[in-house]
Amino acid sequence: MKNIVILISGGGSNMAAIVRAAQRDHWARTLGARVAAVISNRADAAGLAYAREQGIATAVLDHTSFGSREGFDAALAALIDRQDPDGQPALVVLAGFMRVLTPGFVRHFEGRLMNIHPSLLPAFTGLHTHARALAAGCKFAGVTVHLVTAQLDEGPILAQAVVPVLGTDTAQTLAGRVLTQEHLIYSRAIASYLRA
Ligand code: GAR
Repeated sequence: MKNIVILISGGGSNMAAIVRAAQRDHWARTLGARVAAVISNRADAAGLAYAREQGIATAVLDHTSFGSREGFDAALAALIDRQDPDGQPALVVLAGFMRVLTPGFVRHFEGRLMNIHPSLLPAFTGLHTHARALAAGCKFAGVTVHLVTAQLDEGPILAQAVVPVLGTDTAQTLAGRVLTQEHLIYSRAIASYLRA
């Protein structure tokens, strides 16, 4: 079985959409894959309760209890690897995991570390993507799924979706429109990756 480990920091709506897609499309049978665990760097991440309800193993690794970024990332990599009884997981999915990862961590999971970023990369890397798209006068915005490389919000693009920016939009309304697309494309990108 190909094991998927999902990392979250908050609401976990992308994680929930992936779990629903895995159930709806019978990934265990059709892809030989399952969501093995959900890990959060925050104990209060709302998505943890959903994962538990679905019978998925969960774990919390609090980044504030580590003295260095490298120390946290090394512990996180070890924790992720422990979630797969057969060794290292087939895929690590960042779903609203709000941590900048060290080169060592990225190297450890190279080629099987995926991220979703709420902009049309390479535009608007980093934070506050929707406010920045509005301030720039963009007529379209969107979301990107990509493989993670050592450079923040870069790496081979696997999928994108575009939404219109409306004259009445606030960062919040635009974020909502983009999030609806995130929930559609992330599970599709994961399924394509696992099928390849
Ligand atoms: C999503 O919009 C995701 O694209 C974004 O955080 C949100 C998490 O929502 N990720 C980033 O900004 C990463 N740089 P969720 O917890 O409900 O999935």
